[in-house]
Parts: sequence; structure tokens; C-alpha cells
Amino acid sequence: MTETRVTVDLGLRSYDVVVGEGLIDRTADVVGPSLTRPFVAIVTDAAVAKFQLPRLQAALARGGIRHETIIVPAGEDSKSFAHLENLLERLLAAKIERRDTVLALGGGVVGDLAGFAASILRRGVAVIQIPTTLLAQVDSAIGGKTAINSRQGKNLIGTFHQPRLVVSDVSTLETLPRRELLAGYAEVVKYGLIDDAPFFRWLETTGPAVLAGEAGARREAVVACSRAKARFVALDERETSGARALLNLGHTFGHAIEAEMNYDGRVLHGEAVAIGMAMAFDASVTLGLCPAADAKRVKHHLATSGLPTTLSSFGTTGSAAKFIRHIAQDKKTSGGRTTFVLVRGIGQAFLSGDVEEHHLTPLFERALAA
Ligand code: GLY
Repeated sequence: MTETRVTVDLGLRSYDVVVGEGLIDRTADVVGPSLTRPFVAIVTDAAVAKFQLPRLQAALARGGIRHETIIVPAGEDSKSFAHLENLLERLLAAKIERRDTVLALGGGVVGDLAGFAASILRRGVAVIQIPTTLLAQVDSAIGGKTAINSRQGKNLIGTFHQPRLVVSDVSTLETLPRRELLAGYAEVVKYGLIDDAPFFRWLETTGPAVLAGEAGARREAVVACSRAKARFVALDERETSGARALLNLGHTFGHAIEAEMNYDGRVLHGEAVAIGMAMAFDASVTLGLCPAADAKRVKHHLATSGLPTTLSSFGTTGSAAKFIRHIAQDKKTSGGRTTFVLVRGIGQAFLSGDVEEHHLTPLFERALAA
């Protein structure tokens, strides 16, 4: 059985990301050494429970690990105060003790909610992330960001709480709806665009195999992204020096798009990031920073993979101003100025505070009209 371990190097809080096929069926072996007693609370959602929960429960039972299971509703609405409170009460009722472990089985929503609950329950219990979406395996399950949403915006209330282990079973991607797989693929492409041009080139040829489910290609992509994410997190755990902020390529534009669409599911996070990355390249070309040929190559790869690169694909109407007003509330805004991730080319991202409103308006107008 092939598995790869990637270490997130954070001194005493270092942990491994284990990537392989069929890992959930070997959960007891994989997570056992990280537990202080043979008891865990599984947190998952109704959609993931259907396919992956029986596998996980059977594997734990085979290994003699007792478990309680808490199922939260699927979807972004679960990242709320009400669901957090409910989850915390249920974890306490399940008699989770200070040294016990929560297993977060699911995509970004479950990982963020269960991770946040674990970080504040009894002043902090361990969480092991078992991501089941491409987006969570290559990004959100690694690095310890946890959050719920506020009326003011997405992910505005949360903590940094590093997991004790991340178990990325790539066979879970086989049951992932195509659209969600593609949305996760946008975050895969992101790593190539930030600082790894050879990886982007590899995706131009091997991306179709990753999306088609070719096991080796999929595993290689998840391992490469896990290594990249581990590197950024180790460099800048709390996003203070700027290194980790590069992971926000496409996200400032993307969040504005998601917010304007009220997070109502019309656009998935990864789809908004794909449009946002195309916009970041467009902005960089307009500012004379990036060759137009690179922007064209990026758009071409995203589009031929099946991802949107413009807002027009969503039938959105209205003015650029509607999108721009969401940018001020973004977490990347400080002292009224927003930091954008721009590029000097493929694999050459950098942070910039030089994007002004008069730059944004034509950018959004082009994205709406294209
Ligand atoms: N998803 C970006 C980060 O973890 O920093």
C-alpha cells in the first residue's frame, strides 16, 4: 500500500499529512499512535456520512477504538454560532475529555467547524483532520485555520488550531461530485501559479488525468500540494510575515464574488477562486507587471479543465461596484487598505497594496462582460 508522509514542521506542534489510497480502512493503524486512549468523537456531515462514515466506523471498531458520531447538516450554513453551540454541547454530552481527540471527517465546512469546536472545547482538545474533498486535502485541512461565518462575512470568527494529524485518503475523491472536484482543482492550480511554474506545466499535461481519477496522478497532485501547503504554514503559521498570505491568490476577488452571490451555492468557493485567479492575472497584466501570454495560458488551462474564468458564466448582472464593496470587509484588509496577491508571471506571486478602486472597476467590468 503506497502512502506518503509530509511533515508540517512547527517544532513541538509538528504533524504529518498522510496521503494514500484506502487510508480510512486502516484508520486504527494510522491514527492509533496519535490517540491518548482508544476513544474518539467523529464529526461529519450528512452527505459524507453516506459514503465514508461506515468505512471509518468499521475501521475503528476493527482496531478496538470506541467512537461517538455527531452528524451536522451538509453545507456552509453549518458554520454558524448555532451549529457550533450544538456541536459543543453534543461533544460534552459524548463525554469528550481534555485529552481526547475529535476526528473531522469531511470537506472544508466540517474541518473548519469541528476544528473550531475542538480548539475551544475544554480549552482545546486534539483534532485529526480526515479530509474527503480535493479542496480540503490540498488546502483547508492543513495549517490549522478554523472558522465559522458571521453576518459580516465568511470565516471572520475562528482560531488557529493545528491538527495532530491529517489523513488524506484520495480514494474518497471517487464519490465526490464532478463540480466539487473541479472546484478543488482550482486550489491545486493555485500552487503552481504562486511559486511553482514546473508544477503548473505538469498540470497542463497531467491535470486531465488528475480530474479523470487516475490514481497515481491524483496522489502525486495531492502530495505536491500538501508539501507546498506545509512549507507555507511552516514559514508563516499565523499569516504574519506575508508568506502564507500568498495562498490567498485569487481569494480577495473570489470572496467578493461569493459574498455578492450571498454564498447561496450558485458559485462554489473554488469556482470563485478560479475567476479570482484569472482576475489577479488580468490585474497584473493591466498594471504592466505580468506578460499577457502568461495570463492567457492560465485562463486557457482553467477553462479547458472546466472551470469558470469570468462572472458571465453565472448569469450575474449588476455593476462592478456591488462586488467591490465586499472587498473592504475582507480579512486581508488592514487600516482600510486591502492587500492583493498579484503576479509577475506564472509561479511568481507577490503581495501588493497598490491596487486602487479605479483599477478594480474595469477589472470587474471585464469579468462581468466576458
Ligand atoms: N487557505 C489558506 C490558508 O490556509 O492559509
